[in-house]
Amino acid sequence: MASNFTDKATTRRAFLKGSVAAGGAVLGAGAAHAAGDPLITETQPWAMELGDGVDATPYGMPIRFETDVVRRNVEWLTADTISSINFTPIHALDGTITPQGCAFERHHSGAIELAKEDYRLMINGLVEEEMVFTYQDLERFPREQHVYFCECAANTGMEWAGAQLNGAQFTHGMIHNMEYTGVPLRTLLKEAGIKTESKWVFVEGADASSNGRSIPMEKALDDVLVAFKANGEALRKEHGYPVRLVVPGWEGNMWVKWLRRIEVTDQAVESREETSKYTDTLEDGTSRKWTWVMDAKSVVTSPSPQSPITHGKGPLVITGLAWSGRGSITRVDVTLDGGKNWQQARLAAPGQPMALTRFYLDVEWDGEEMLLQSRAHDDTGYVQPTKEELREVRGLNSIYHNNCIQTWWVKPNGEAENVEIS
Ligand code: MTE
Ligand code: CO
Repeated sequence: MASNFTDKATTRRAFLKGSVAAGGAVLGAGAAHAAGDPLITETQPWAMELGDGVDATPYGMPIRFETDVVRRNVEWLTADTISSINFTPIHALDGTITPQGCAFERHHSGAIELAKEDYRLMINGLVEEEMVFTYQDLERFPREQHVYFCECAANTGMEWAGAQLNGAQFTHGMIHNMEYTGVPLRTLLKEAGIKTESKWVFVEGADASSNGRSIPMEKALDDVLVAFKANGEALRKEHGYPVRLVVPGWEGNMWVKWLRRIEVTDQAVESREETSKYTDTLEDGTSRKWTWVMDAKSVVTSPSPQSPITHGKGPLVITGLAWSGRGSITRVDVTLDGGKNWQQARLAAPGQPMALTRFYLDVEWDGEEMLLQSRAHDDTGYVQPTKEELREVRGLNSIYHNNCIQTWWVKPNGEAENVEIS
């Protein structure tokens, strides 16, 4: 243990010394600050008293210095906070997994509290045998684990007509990415025995809105999960405790929370008025419907309006997220000059299907203004379009499925603003 520690310290010292000697210190004159810095030269209060005992926080929360890393909503967006949405603070996170505590929420009739004991999942319709599963029943089927993103079809929807919301949290934060544990829907459907004429499943939640949606049988039998754990722990109430549907790569509204019923049908059920709302109105007044898959998209999360550059010119880490509902991210390009020159970013890990990918571009910032953009490529060969390109196809009347390239104008003082360039 002790020798291990020494080894590490030696290596780090060697690295710092080495880089200074080579004239390539990453952060310039870092060492010179140490002499007059009381944080280095004086014993600090936290070293003179004892910290909390192990019984202080049975379930830990982020340290108080991080209290601004929270979900936020936009007051004017919806009439009330019950049928509403809030946004993931993607500008302040790194890595790819979204902690449940700050993962965006979207509900049509509020987040309900449903105990495991009261939980029932019914499968009816075109099946050999109608079935009702308790929570305990679900726990007895073989499980799978997968990391997937969930993006609301309305993500970036406020940006169609022009740059509007000032922050990656608000423009792109209707997304989260979690590791789910659950039972494949296929397993449960097989248990009930689907009849040959069945073509769809109609899935419904236990909340007042019920959020009924139809999913084609092909998808239902493919990779849809009936999930009860996220990031290792029980789903949070707001994400559908105790059981939600996970529909990889498809728009968030199909991911039914508090899942209570699966009806096997031979045609799509048009539930309440909500189903018809999830269409995209085109320039000629016609609508795109059943646009379930989320196309490849990316955004620079830092620097961005809520995450300005505070350290002046020199080394700068540009980072962001990329994802595709059609497969894996293979490449992300970043431009500092609004698309004149593109550089290939470094993927923190190879892209995984239908999951968030983290990218980095390490640059030497000259302190001049930048027009920052990122552009995602997925393994189908698809390349994320510019705003202009997307508008040519879809017009200005759409709300849903806006996957265009985002621009941040970074000013010499390090502040960033949401802008549109043509
Ligand atoms: N499921 C139920 N039962 N009720 C709802 O209001 N909202 C849907 C979907 N599932 C909803 C629901 C929408 S529009 C989205 S984008 C996702 O849940 C959001 O999931 P989250 O709240 O876990 O982020
Ligand atoms: Co949604």
